[in-house]
Amino acid sequence: MSRQPGGEGGDIHVTIYRFDPSTDAAPRYEQYSAPRTKYMRIIDVLEYLTEVKGIGIAYRSSCGIKKCGTCGVMANGVPKLACYEAAQDGMTIEPLRNFRVIRDLVTDRAPYQEKIDSITPFLVRDSQPGKFPEDLRHSQMIERNRFDQCITCLLCVAACPIMESNPSFVGPAAATRAAALLEDVRDAGAEARLDTLADEFGLWRCHMIGECTEVCPAHAEPALAIQRLRRRSVKRTLRAMVRRVGGGHRP
Ligand code: SF4
Ligand code: FES
Repeated sequence: MSRQPGGEGGDIHVTIYRFDPSTDAAPRYEQYSAPRTKYMRIIDVLEYLTEVKGIGIAYRSSCGIKKCGTCGVMANGVPKLACYEAAQDGMTIEPLRNFRVIRDLVTDRAPYQEKIDSITPFLVRDSQPGKFPEDLRHSQMIERNRFDQCITCLLCVAACPIMESNPSFVGPAAATRAAALLEDVRDAGAEARLDTLADEFGLWRCHMIGECTEVCPAHAEPALAIQRLRRRSVKRTLRAMVRRVGGGHRP
């Protein structure tokens, strides 16, 4: 049996984390099945269970095409986008790790958004552009564009072992945003941003394990973002030291 033309037949079985902190004493896992369809994704399973079967599983999604970053879940223990990851028989679907659960697969993104906000996540200009479109060469924007691939899905935060042991760590998604701005020739906010990132929960908390880059669905390279910020931070410190001792050498 298939739900749509091209369906493969048979059922797919999944285990889903269920928890409503307002009524449940503890989380539980429930098993469900859905008719398998061709190219079936996790989101298709969730839509079938909620919209066809009327089961009140809470989850987030919007674009359905790997753009909005809202549909992150743990799939068999690995952070994935539900609108992109193939559904597999026997799969366990849970809320993103390292976030408080609001209900079922919906997590509280607000505390992490505050971290992103703390690094002034927008272009800081010291002068207005003389014309529009601005006179920018591709070569000037290529590094910014790399980090701008970030869709703020927060899968990297769910994958980060430092976030798990140290929730105050600024984390890879905020760092990726900061690195995008660092690479923007128009930005004048780097100094203040690096000051914010230099504290005990900033850049130097990262152990460069690289799980963030492994799971990033947008290839935004959050671990490289942290490296870039560290390099700039070290250069800045060395320059300040040279200035203090009155040397003329510029590292
Ligand atoms: S860096 Fe990648 S994994 Fe992290 S929030 Fe951005 S897109 Fe998602
Ligand atoms: S629903 Fe938008 S990225 Fe998955």
